[in-house]
Amino acid sequence: MAAKIIDGKEIAARIRADIKKRVSKLNVKPGLAVVLVGKDPASRVYVDSKEKSCKEAGIYSEKYVLDETIDEMELFNVVEKLNQSRKIHGILVQLPLPKHINEQLVIDAILPYKDVDGFSAVNAGNMLMGNNTIIPATPKGVMKLIESTGVNIEGKHAVVVGRSNIVGKPVALLLQQKNATVTMCHSKSKPLAKYTKEADILVVAAGKPKLITGSMVKKGAIVIDVGTNKVDGKLVGDVDFDSVKKVAGYITPVPGGVGPMTIACLLDNTLECVKLMPK
Ligand SMILES: NC(=O)c1ccc[n+]([C@@H]2O[C@H](COP(=O)([O-])OP(=O)(O)OC[C@H]3O[C@@H](n4cnc5c(N)ncnc54)[C@H](OP(=O)(O)O)[C@@H]3O)[C@@H](O)[C@H]2O)c1
Repeated sequence: MAAKIIDGKEIAARIRADIKKRVSKLNVKPGLAVVLVGKDPASRVYVDSKEKSCKEAGIYSEKYVLDETIDEMELFNVVEKLNQSRKIHGILVQLPLPKHINEQLVIDAILPYKDVDGFSAVNAGNMLMGNNTIIPATPKGVMKLIESTGVNIEGKHAVVVGRSNIVGKPVALLLQQKNATVTMCHSKSKPLAKYTKEADILVVAAGKPKLITGSMVKKGAIVIDVGTNKVDGKLVGDVDFDSVKKVAGYITPVPGGVGPMTIACLLDNTLECVKLMPK
């Protein structure tokens, strides 16, 4: 039987509707600032869609588009101004930044309670320790997609392909916190299929088009495809959807899976930042 499609677009729309309701009941208007450095077209698209989603949810937004030659100190000054703003609860610096800027230093300059992406060393450390903190939007979205299947995560074998700080590592940690047994794979995990075939839950975030094919997947597995790759002008995931859907129990499409959840969870995180802001 073909896998059930996990409809990220629909789940994200429900989350966004709920956020809109929650925003209307608040006595402050949540504010999100997005900082974009340079002219990367993909980043520009992400930033514009974040701005549009804020508007739809009733969240105030500010957008800063800075020249790619900006020096680190000027960028720190922008972040510091936003740290001080009472109108802004969450600050997002769109990655990647130009090579001459130290990304982690800039992210760590954001006040931890305004670090809406949860990428700062403080928030990542809190997450590692299982403390209440801001969970990065994409991993948070991945967990919601897995939970939407109704399958109990506890005791399952989860395999995460990719170990980046922004996707692979936090996803692995969140799955482990839900009592899955987690295997993390990366470019040196050979042969990859040996690991992926053992997965009850398979999350793929490698940035390699169609890396995972049907023969690499366990029958009935939940397969979450985080990958977004442009091939011949078309968006494709890291999972070969057509062959994997014949084997898996559940699968996310690309587009329409993880992508919409990232934006919905970013808005959700902005409301988390409102709660964390000192009164
Ligand atoms: N939909 C969304 O909202 C969203 C959000 C974020 C990212 N993404 C997408 O998710 C993908 C991953 O993003 P990222 O930022 O985590 O990427 P990244 O920083 O480039 O990390 C990729 C990871 O995949 C591993 N990898 C690469 N080739 C592999 C292979 N052949 N076999 C096994 N592992 C392999 C790498 O291993 P090593 O560590 O050994 O190099 C690395 O850990 C990208 O396509 C990105 O566009 C989507």
